[in-house]
Amino acid sequence: MSRLLVQGGKALDGEVDIHGAKNSTLPILAATILTGGETVLQNCPKLRDVEVSIRILQYLGCSAGWDGDALVVNTKDMNRHHISDGLMREMRSSSIFLGAILARCGKANLSYPGGCELGPRPIDMHLAGLRQLGATITETGGRLDCETAGLTGRTLVLRLPSVGATENLMIAACGATGTTTILNAAREPEIVDLQNYLLCCGARMTGAGTSTIIIEGKAPLHDCTYACMSDRIVAATYLCAVASAGGRIYLKGAKEEHLSTVIALLREAGCQITSQSQGIVCRAQGRLQSVQGVKTAPYPGFPTDAQAVVMAALLKSCGATMLEENLFENRFRHVDELKRMGADIQVSGRVAVVTGVEMLHGASVEATDLRGGAALCVAGLGAQGDTWVSGLDHIDRGYESIERDLCALGGEVTRI
Ligand code: UD1
Repeated sequence: MSRLLVQGGKALDGEVDIHGAKNSTLPILAATILTGGETVLQNCPKLRDVEVSIRILQYLGCSAGWDGDALVVNTKDMNRHHISDGLMREMRSSSIFLGAILARCGKANLSYPGGCELGPRPIDMHLAGLRQLGATITETGGRLDCETAGLTGRTLVLRLPSVGATENLMIAACGATGTTTILNAAREPEIVDLQNYLLCCGARMTGAGTSTIIIEGKAPLHDCTYACMSDRIVAATYLCAVASAGGRIYLKGAKEEHLSTVIALLREAGCQITSQSQGIVCRAQGRLQSVQGVKTAPYPGFPTDAQAVVMAALLKSCGATMLEENLFENRFRHVDELKRMGADIQVSGRVAVVTGVEMLHGASVEATDLRGGAALCVAGLGAQGDTWVSGLDHIDRGYESIERDLCALGGEVTRI
């Protein structure tokens, strides 16, 4: 079982290219099914959830494999419409394949993705939307059996701006006859990236990035080459790393427009952040200041995926900061691990209060989810002594190689 050794207490100084976004690559890989042809996906991150998506595509009869840094997928020979239980369990986001398989084959059989380390992850809005488009869905014993004689465009109103539901329905609507309008759609940049990919394949749609997305279904789709956007949560993680350890870093490919709430918070805490044409420079020195409360919310609000790393960055700040988690029930599991390093954090329900301490010390800690695991590395860089992080499977789901990147930024991080 590998662990990361983070040798903290040293200021960062370096630069790194931010790799492609996991959260746009996964829906784009599902959407390749609609094209029935070849997609060359550039800037596609080589990380565990992408490898699981490749295995799902291969299981469905498609070809998918790396050609250097590009992922080449051909869905022409797809010959299955079900995904095995084992593959479904490996990645919660595998439900994103539902709309695509249904639109392409008229049938889809999957097991229910169930919960995950962040708590319950319902997909009721995905299913309600697909039903409104004309799918019959039976849920028995954890299995989902979906069928349609043909999907038909409709106006769909989401109860909440769910990222996954918006993506699943955008993809399904491309295969539906007529016009689908998604109201109260999620507005995340990854949804714009999915729209851009679909447009590149010949789809007709507008509105991604706003809360109304309009899709004209049944446009003929064709092969395409597409480059995924850079990963804003990976960029947020490294901004927090320098906020925690001090120093100066340059993040090539990071975009301020995708990170405005995180950057505003870090500036308020005392970091100097400047955008350049190709990336972002961040400098930090000494202890940060506490900030006005942080409340996670759907985009353009403060991203839930950045809550843990921001908390880690504030552990040595002067004063107290309140962080409120509004999207997932179980997203403070990193707190107990951070406390092992000397952090002062009080949790009550969905609120955590971080009171800055003068010093953190290295400890043996365990990642219990993806971003919580990254937060332990961020805290480790700002702590005196050695931090050993286990549970790397979680971190590897979302970072190509967190130790490679943190070393490029001047940190001392080794996988052992
Ligand atoms: C996506 C991201 C994840 C991020 C999250 C919120 C991917 C692969 N994952 O997850 O990293 O943390 O957005 O920004 O892109 N909900 C329902 N019913 C549904 C769907 C969602 O109640 O049918 C609830 C969820 O429980 C959650 C909220 O809606 O409380 C938001 O979830 P959603 O936006 O769907 O997140 P994901 O797409 O799962």
